Amino acid sequence: MLKTHGCGELRAEHAGQTVTLAGWVHRRRDHGGLVFIDLRDSTGLVQVVFHPDRAPAAFATASEVRSEFVLQIVGEVQPRRDGTENTDLPTGAIEVQAARTSVLNASDTPPFPVNQDTNVDELTRLRYRYLDLRRERMAGNIRLRHRVVKFMRDFMDAEGFIEVETPVLNLATPEGARDYLVPSRVHPGSFYALPQSPQQWKQLLMVGGIDRYFQIARCYRDEDLRGDRQPEFTQLDVEMAFVEESDILDLTERLYIALAAAVGPEFNLPSPFPRLTYGEAMERFGSDKPDLRYGLEIRNLSEFAAQGEFRVFTQAVEAGGRVRGFSVPGGADLGRRALDALTEVAKAAGASGLVWVQFAGEGPLDGIAADDIKSPAARFFTPEAWASIGQACGTQRGDLLLIAAGLDEVTSKVLDALRRQVAEDRALADPATLAFAFITEFPMFEYDAENERWSAVHHLFTSPFMDDLPLLARDPGSVRSHAYDLICNGQEIASGSIRIHSRDVQLQVLATLGLSLDEAREKFGHMLEAFRFGAPPHGGIAPGVDRTVALFAGERDIREVIAFPKTKSASDPMTGAPAPVAERQLRDVHIRLDEEALEVLTAAIHAADPPSGG
Ligand code: AMO
Repeated sequence: MLKTHGCGELRAEHAGQTVTLAGWVHRRRDHGGLVFIDLRDSTGLVQVVFHPDRAPAAFATASEVRSEFVLQIVGEVQPRRDGTENTDLPTGAIEVQAARTSVLNASDTPPFPVNQDTNVDELTRLRYRYLDLRRERMAGNIRLRHRVVKFMRDFMDAEGFIEVETPVLNLATPEGARDYLVPSRVHPGSFYALPQSPQQWKQLLMVGGIDRYFQIARCYRDEDLRGDRQPEFTQLDVEMAFVEESDILDLTERLYIALAAAVGPEFNLPSPFPRLTYGEAMERFGSDKPDLRYGLEIRNLSEFAAQGEFRVFTQAVEAGGRVRGFSVPGGADLGRRALDALTEVAKAAGASGLVWVQFAGEGPLDGIAADDIKSPAARFFTPEAWASIGQACGTQRGDLLLIAAGLDEVTSKVLDALRRQVAEDRALADPATLAFAFITEFPMFEYDAENERWSAVHHLFTSPFMDDLPLLARDPGSVRSHAYDLICNGQEIASGSIRIHSRDVQLQVLATLGLSLDEAREKFGHMLEAFRFGAPPHGGIAPGVDRTVALFAGERDIREVIAFPKTKSASDPMTGAPAPVAERQLRDVHIRLDEEALEVLTAAIHAADPPSGG
């Protein structure tokens, strides 16, 4: 090794020892005729002092180096003089008196400061990701990721699971997100698909008698990207045979409680994790991934519509919709501008408008006077009626009531968006709390109006409730499924289900999705066949590793916890991927490009979504 110690490892007890260090120049200061260098490696920072008389050659070298030069330093560890200790730094009690130093490599001036957590635009960070990774925040996140993944592996191993690798070159399936395709050279015109998840393989492992499987699995999906979505991401993929839903939920809950204790003991993590049905979550929070760190619970106010003369409410109810709302404690202080902003949030979520009501004063709403009720809709109800509406939401004087009217699918979206906005504006969510919960009993199917067909809410291998089987043909929309999610702080973290293990039920589900028997056999023949040979009852789950690490790292964007992520347009600014390939490579895989069509396409894509990079 070119070093005897890590920079960040040195402590007072090393005083008197001669050490060899190697690392980067984090910061250099010339001060009182001395040169001070903070030397950095993966273990941390240490201050090195260069004295012009004691070590003239080292001093001369140190006077020349700049940020991010790579140095090897031999020197003696000394206690710092009284009053010069740095209590912010783990090595702050000592410094290294340099005797010799050599430059192992020089560095150009970095495009952004590596030694500060300054804001740098995403494109530059990704273009020079290797420099970004040297920064404290990214270095910490990548180490945390390692600890999370290692913990997951150890935990699963201790629970009797074994890790099995599954293929990356797969048969494309018609369901789910868009596939990334790989052309075959030896089968002209044929393609593999990269796995969107190892879903089918893990089920086949269950048929194969490996009844406790896991894998740290890379998944690939060609979908629209957001802060919590990357085109390639990682799952802790899990499957078990001979289980019921509660077995998987219990296992997942144990994993996350233990994981939080192992990687972030400072979190407040309420447990046991609440288990809400999908219906309950939508009713109370308008979302299947509500942030449970705050209340702002939604109430049904339809019964009050008839007490007033407000057409917005009565019409919504007549049209089969409802009037729903929630109370914002202390929200009577919001000014017009803030209320307008909330109205915009509601509209962006699909509402035609937002009804807000502010109750002035303090205490219960009983006997409130008209003057104390401020709302564009104030005149449509008597003060008594407004008081009853408010009371149904737990509103007090000094609070704000936000109300949406319309079909549930619209009001849920609107009120969910409003809850999130209000919580953000008023800092209602405690950043030190991880509010995990399970959402269960998802519907099996949703109607895809664009393609005029039913599609699976989770995936087509998910088991419907056996009691609901008769509804498959008649009323797919009301079939419940054994699908569940683990959510935390308003985000989906994991998703899974109990699977179908009967060939007959699988065929019925495929038929409901509009697949003919021939299509079903062509795309899923291997699964249907496997089910003929004693497939055990089984189920599983797949926590997203990137989202889990981001949660524990307190990061909003999973790119902050991925060493080399892609931009929002799925490209890599450092290597330039994706990029055209040589004609010869295309010929090998029997692909000919239509240059003219490509130009038109590229222009159209750029017009619709100019490449921003970030
Ligand atoms: P699902 O598609 O819900 O289920 O994915 C499971 C979890 O993977 C994470 N995830 C993602 N993370 C980052 N970027 C993405 N593009 C992305 N897509 C999904 C989320 C999500 O909860 N085979 C099933 C699981 C099962 O049924 O066992 C599956 O893949 O955290």
